[in-house]
Amino acid sequence: MPGAVTIHEVGPRDGLQNEPTVLDTPAKLRLIEALAGTGLGRIEVTSFVSPKWIPALADADEVARHVQAARGVAFSALVPNARGLERALSAGVSEVAVVVSASETHNRRNLNKTTGETMSHLGEIVAHALAHSMRVRGYVSTVWGCPYEGEVDPRRALGLARELADMGVHEISLGDTIGVGTVSQTRSILEMFLAELEPGRLALHMHDTRGTALANVLQGLEMGITTFDASVGGLGGCPYAPGAPGNLATEDLVHMLHGMGLETGVDLSRLVDAARLAESLVGHELPGKVHDLTPGRARSQWPPAAR
Ligand code: HMG
Ligand code: MG
Repeated sequence: MPGAVTIHEVGPRDGLQNEPTVLDTPAKLRLIEALAGTGLGRIEVTSFVSPKWIPALADADEVARHVQAARGVAFSALVPNARGLERALSAGVSEVAVVVSASETHNRRNLNKTTGETMSHLGEIVAHALAHSMRVRGYVSTVWGCPYEGEVDPRRALGLARELADMGVHEISLGDTIGVGTVSQTRSILEMFLAELEPGRLALHMHDTRGTALANVLQGLEMGITTFDASVGGLGGCPYAPGAPGNLATEDLVHMLHGMGLETGVDLSRLVDAARLAESLVGHELPGKVHDLTPGRARSQWPPAAR
């Protein structure tokens, strides 16, 4: 087991992109500020996507401009294409993430391109971002399964990860986009990846649709993975992956890791407060399970007290 774990918070991006309630910019900034105050070292704050595709993140430029690199937090944003990268550069973002899916149909639905077209486009985007001294993360989605095609051959995902690594991304986040992964599947996928890539180059991005995310994280930890993506309160999913609600909740992840004696740098009590804030901002209960740190109490009352 590692001594310390890095958490990549994706709530303001992966969470809010899929929320029926569209938060206004000040509300998003309030949530990001609360997350930054928990000790989280990385927060993916938005996505420079087409507002026609993801209306909830139409204010990406404003959000990115307002967040400050305070308290050692690395703020990043997803960019699906060259236009997105230009917007991120203008907004002063220094870390971006690019995405490709391991399954052809999900890639087409998500990005309106074949995976081949996406990869050649990403080659240009990543080179351009690196030339501007940005750090670039690569997501490979639908590694554990696709909402349209079902099973996905992990060798497809590995081929894409290899190409992304060669482009110079610092980390590849493997996505269980629809939360279908089982522990044995995670073990065999990681065995395949770790034969070629260092564990420090990989992150796991587990959705918790079927309650298996933490079990898969544990499997990853045992195999040397030390970076995990999570979303405050369990906000989110992927709008182009039907049936993918609920990223792994950050507070559930931190609770498990701290219980195992692993350091995250996160103050769980503040994180739980941030999850309650997220609930009050979106106006409904979120699926995260760690809601109350009082011994014997699992969940405070819904709706939360007014703030
Ligand atoms: P397209 O329709 O092929 O794009 O979509 P286009 O180049 O033909 O442009 C269409 C219109 O959008 C044009 O406007 C462009 O200017 C505009 P019009 O001329 O019609 O007025 N446009 C943009 N505007 C602002 N910013 C941009 C931009 N790009 C085009 N960046 C496109 C292609 C990539 C734009 C579209 O498919 C898209 O936005 N897709 C993003 C979908 C998305 O965000 N999905 C969720 C993120 S991935 C995810 O959640 C998975 C992950 O969490 C990991 C996991 O769980 O596995 C990462
Ligand atoms: Mg996701």
